[in-house]
Amino acid sequence: MLKIKNVRMINPATKTDIYGDITIDGDKVLSIKETVKPEGKGEKIWKEDAEGNMVLDGAGLVAAPGLVDVHTHFRDPGFTYKEDIASGAKAAAAGGYTTVIMMCNTKPAIDSTETLAYCLEKGRETEIHVLSCGAVTTGLKGEKLTPMEDMKEAGAVGFTDDGIPILDEELLREAFIKAAELSVPVSLHEEDPALIGNNGINRGAASAHFGISGSPREAEITMIDRDLKVALETGAIVNIQHISTKEGVELVRKAKAIPGNHVHAEATPHHIALTEQDVIKKGTLAKVNPPIRAEEDRQAILAGLKDGTIDIIATDHAPHAPEEKAKELTQAPSGMLGLETALPLALKVLREEAGMSLMEILEKLTCNPADMYHLSCGRLEEGKVADLVLFDPDEEWVLTKVHSKSENTPFMGERLKGKIYYTICEGKIVYAGE
Ligand code: DOR
Ligand code: ZN
Repeated sequence: MLKIKNVRMINPATKTDIYGDITIDGDKVLSIKETVKPEGKGEKIWKEDAEGNMVLDGAGLVAAPGLVDVHTHFRDPGFTYKEDIASGAKAAAAGGYTTVIMMCNTKPAIDSTETLAYCLEKGRETEIHVLSCGAVTTGLKGEKLTPMEDMKEAGAVGFTDDGIPILDEELLREAFIKAAELSVPVSLHEEDPALIGNNGINRGAASAHFGISGSPREAEITMIDRDLKVALETGAIVNIQHISTKEGVELVRKAKAIPGNHVHAEATPHHIALTEQDVIKKGTLAKVNPPIRAEEDRQAILAGLKDGTIDIIATDHAPHAPEEKAKELTQAPSGMLGLETALPLALKVLREEAGMSLMEILEKLTCNPADMYHLSCGRLEEGKVADLVLFDPDEEWVLTKVHSKSENTPFMGERLKGKIYYTICEGKIVYAGE
């Protein structure tokens, strides 16, 4: 058995925030016992007791449900030089994640039950839970729907063409109707390419600095506006991914005020932590789709997280090889790593700048994403699967290496706040902080 003593347990699903002891037997949480707030900090190392149990003095640590990422690019099959399911799962565990949902822009795309089966099988070989969406359209071409019903049957937890927007409104409506029938979410990448000069760089201060046309906010706003209308009309569960504009946040806020809506929205750690001024400094490493925009957009995203308009923090973990990110700005691919820096970035920015509590932050990393995809994970409760993360929310550390196959993060060398000590999945220690 694993015994974690004197730890602060935060379970957002039940709004529980207590000090006490957790006992894990096999893959389940056997018991949670409340005690009193401990003095000082524990040693953070496991010791064997007389009965052969492994015991950790968790004083000073927070135990939360294992984090759930609903937006992960693992590049497998097809681009395994950037990441594969095994290396991605290691990066996830290092970031405190015990469940991730793969996006479908692999090669081939995850648009058939065969490719889905390959991913899920590879996922089962890892030490965390690797789940997957299915693509909405075949080859992400936006022309024809995939066999959504068969793919749900084969284990797809939802549908997305992430990376690529669905331009054909009629096809989108059809997909929403089918997804509503199947009771699964459709997650949407909202950028109209017709309005974009160069992707990944905000049209504004950043595009002016680099002397390029960039990607205007209207590209996102118009797509979110259209998609929310179709969502409300069809009753589909929709998820606006990686929201980047203040207007987008406001559109989601209005849609969520309509009774009976099934609207969700994600923010990424990088849209929470950075502005286009950082993109000017970091160049291709901070080039992402949709782009990181102005301070007023970042502030609107923080406000949206605080008031519940944005219910999910999702990484958009997007590995790319060094030689790809070394290309000139307009040629380099968009995307940055996310899994290993998400928790510290969220903890620092949302506590210090948005005044959010640990409970409010953790619910957007655990039960909210789990609930949207109808998953039972994201909870730390007696009798449930023992998926949890143990971290010191205030410890500062410097990011010097990552577990991912790629290294494309603008946060390398940065001082971060919030250090993960252990990730436990199905009762097994799958990551021990170095
Ligand atoms: O920057 C991004 N990169 N945004 C996406 O939506 C896709 C991702 C990728 O796959 O590289
Ligand atoms: Zn996307």
